Amino acid sequence: MKLWGGRFEGEIDPDFFTFSESFSVDHRLVLYDIRVNRAYVAELRSAGILEGSEESSLLEALEKLAQQVETDPNWAKKESAEDIHTWVEYRLLQETPAAGKLRTGRSRNDLVATLARMWVKDAADNMQRLVVDLMAALLSQAEKNAKAILPGYTHLQRAQAILWPHFLLAYCEMLRRDWRRLRDCAERADELPMGSGALAGASIPINRERLRKELGFARLSQNSLDATSDRDFMVEAMFACALLATHLSRMAEDLILYGSSEFGFVELADAFSTGSSLMPHKKNPDSLELIRGRAGRVQGRLSGLLTTLKGLPSSYDRDLQEDKAALFDAVDTTAGSLRVMARVVGTLQINEARMREAAEAGFLTATEIAEELARRGVPFAEAHDTVGGLVRYCVKEQKTFAELTDEEGKKFTPLWDDALQRTATSLESALEKKNLTGGTSPSQVSGQIQKLNQELAELRKSTP
Ligand code: ARG
Repeated sequence: MKLWGGRFEGEIDPDFFTFSESFSVDHRLVLYDIRVNRAYVAELRSAGILEGSEESSLLEALEKLAQQVETDPNWAKKESAEDIHTWVEYRLLQETPAAGKLRTGRSRNDLVATLARMWVKDAADNMQRLVVDLMAALLSQAEKNAKAILPGYTHLQRAQAILWPHFLLAYCEMLRRDWRRLRDCAERADELPMGSGALAGASIPINRERLRKELGFARLSQNSLDATSDRDFMVEAMFACALLATHLSRMAEDLILYGSSEFGFVELADAFSTGSSLMPHKKNPDSLELIRGRAGRVQGRLSGLLTTLKGLPSSYDRDLQEDKAALFDAVDTTAGSLRVMARVVGTLQINEARMREAAEAGFLTATEIAEELARRGVPFAEAHDTVGGLVRYCVKEQKTFAELTDEEGKKFTPLWDDALQRTATSLESALEKKNLTGGTSPSQVSGQIQKLNQELAELRKSTP
């Protein structure tokens, strides 16, 4: 079955058919196709194109088709067609000749743009729910180990002590922005193209406004050329996915590092690890490695679609059919990573003692000493030099700050006293001092946890 046979002699080349079909990808749009058809049938009836009996036979046939695909998850494997729109029309024609009137005043160009927008809106909702689930997992991991201290790194060198929850909440912040980005995408996609025809607009008097309400769109598209051919709403959704997947990838990398024997800060649940076929002792963080790796795939899909779009002349071109494979894969991949990451975080064990040991070993309070000297009136640049010298001395003598005698301390600064040594040795007091909004002090962090918990409840409520 073809929707365009009249002009052509003979059959389509079978290899070209296989090359060009999109049913194997766009069959996923079937329920949206049926839903739009239902609403469109009502419009054709009020425009006088369909008789009352034709309308009801079509609605009945659509209902039957919906039931068939809903009850058989493998329905698409048994079917083939040029695309999902062709297949639906073909099946309806088998039920009623009125199906021959169905595509009056419309084209697959406005149809497919409509279905894709519906799909993106639902996919964004779904992804938002998964983002909230991951944030919840991060928050409960933070609450479970609220007091754990680990070294914070810059350049992957030990820098300053931070709370374990502070590390986790950093990812909550990124995810919160990802959530917002997905919401924005859904809002911009919320425009109905139906009624745009193939490119120039429809010439039968369907009521676009009524159609819009029936299909749950916020606005009508305002230009038929644009509506049938831009795919910016997909690119945006894929960018939101690519950035989200990039955040997940960085989180995965952090946890892979922290889980290595060299760090030993965290241990992945066995259920999310795999072994080696050769080395019996291995426990590998494959779940996290795949999350890290798949971010590349999502980014590739995004740049693939942008490249497809960049040279296209105005209005619909068949190149645009490449959009859905890219979109579906980017969204599926990101959703899969979100699901697995939430479980990995939820089952992660931490080794608080190892974290603390690392935080105590790395002169992480050096900045604190310099700042304490600055508080006592020493210019910070001078204090910085002094403490630098002290660290160099400790490294040479293989001493920690705690092991310094009063005499040794005084060699570097006459201000050395018990209070300064406490500053040099207490991670807790170093944390306490980072008490501005966004800092890692225990009271800032517990305030953040509380705020985020409230916000999560809000986010859940505002995800449709
Ligand atoms: N399968 C096509 C796609 O996904 C549907 C639109 C086809 N329109 C056309 N004029 N060939 O883009």
